[in-house]
Amino acid sequence: MDLLTIIGMFGFLYFSIRIYLIIISSKIKKINTKYVLITGCDGGFGKITAKRLHSKGVNVIAGCLTESGRDSLKQQGINSILLNITSEDSIDKAVKIVQEILPKGVGLWGLINNVEFLELALPNDWLSILDYQRTMNVNVFGLINVTLKFLQLIKKEQGRIVNMANLAGRMAFEHLGPYSTSKYAIEGFSDSLRREMKKWNVSVHTIESDVFNARVINVEESMTKRFHSLNDTIRNEYGEQYIKEYLTSYKISINLNTNKDVVPVIDAYVHAILSQYPKIRYTVGNKSILYRFVNSHLPDCVTDFILKKISKYPKPLRVQ
Ligand SMILES: *[C@@H]1O[C@H](CO)[C@@H](O)[C@H](O)[C@H]1NC(C)=O
Ligand SMILES: *[C@@H]1O[C@H](CO)[C@@H](O)[C@H](O)[C@H]1NC(C)=O
Ligand SMILES: *[C@@H]1O[C@H](CO)[C@@H](O)[C@H](O)[C@H]1NC(C)=O
Ligand SMILES: *[C@@H]1O[C@H](CO)[C@@H](O)[C@H](O)[C@H]1NC(C)=O
Ligand SMILES: *[C@@H]1O[C@H](CO)[C@@H](O)[C@H](O)[C@H]1NC(C)=O
Repeated sequence: MDLLTIIGMFGFLYFSIRIYLIIISSKIKKINTKYVLITGCDGGFGKITAKRLHSKGVNVIAGCLTESGRDSLKQQGINSILLNITSEDSIDKAVKIVQEILPKGVGLWGLINNVEFLELALPNDWLSILDYQRTMNVNVFGLINVTLKFLQLIKKEQGRIVNMANLAGRMAFEHLGPYSTSKYAIEGFSDSLRREMKKWNVSVHTIESDVFNARVINVEESMTKRFHSLNDTIRNEYGEQYIKEYLTSYKISINLNTNKDVVPVIDAYVHAILSQYPKIRYTVGNKSILYRFVNSHLPDCVTDFILKKISKYPKPLRVQ
């Protein structure tokens, strides 16, 4: 190869990357005619996303669980409504209010299903089906109920649905049974909906982010409380020591696996709503990218081995 060919190749590569970057950053037109509903805007990702989209000129409708959440956004000039995604009545009311907010003949450009619930970090044999039901009611049935009830309004606009999944929906960590199960379910729902909705020109996107510090619950308290409510068989199998040892490994794993920087998640939401070429999946955060690769390309036994090595979970008393 002569020098000219090499320079030519690099030039081609450079311009291809430039063109790719220009394409993925191009935005949809007439942003200020678009209406976007976001669930869970009382705080966290939802609230920040509502503010960010509002500042870009989008007509945001912020769904809040609490009146204080709603009023706080209202004071900032953002259209906000009460929406409890686990109550059918509340969803029905929200559909009516949204229809009143929308100008005649206009539908919803976007629905961001941001609400999620992470309650416990406990081993499965400490749990009951009620623990699963509480999580599934919010993360899965709530999300699906909201989506189905707003679907006609989204189809009208040939709009977009963005679902908050998580790394835990691709890789189930120990002690996160209910949360992971709900996130795997969101993946199934999103994939089937996306394939069906394509013919209606409605697109469906998921955010697969790292686990975030902001959402980690008080493990020590919840573990101790649950431990003492367990029956003798299970308490003896694990031993009280297990809680202390687990907390140590949990702290290591939190530092290793959680992300404090929420900005990339907000960027992903905004890109999914406003980009001309949104991605199907937004894998946000370095751990997500790494774990997703490991989980998709390596045999399960290797994945299990890697997880065991890095997370250093303790052994129950009876296993030692
Ligand atoms: C979802 O909808 C079903 C049927 O319409 C209802 O029975 C259920 O309570 C709803 N669940 C949630 C969590 O809203
Ligand atoms: C949301 O709805 C559920 C089911 O109707 C109810 O149990 C819960 O208390 C409601 N939450 C709030 C904050 O209103
Ligand atoms: C979807 O978009 C394409 C291309 O813009 C158009 O030809 C088609 O009619 C649209 N489908 C529906 C159901 O509106
Ligand atoms: C404790 O609960 C387990 C699971 O439900 C059951 O198999 C076991 O017999 C119970 N042990 C005692 C001492 O009640
Ligand atoms: C990924 O890691 C790099 C280098 O450690 C860091 O600068 C960057 O902020 C990380 N990205 C995310 C999304 O966490």
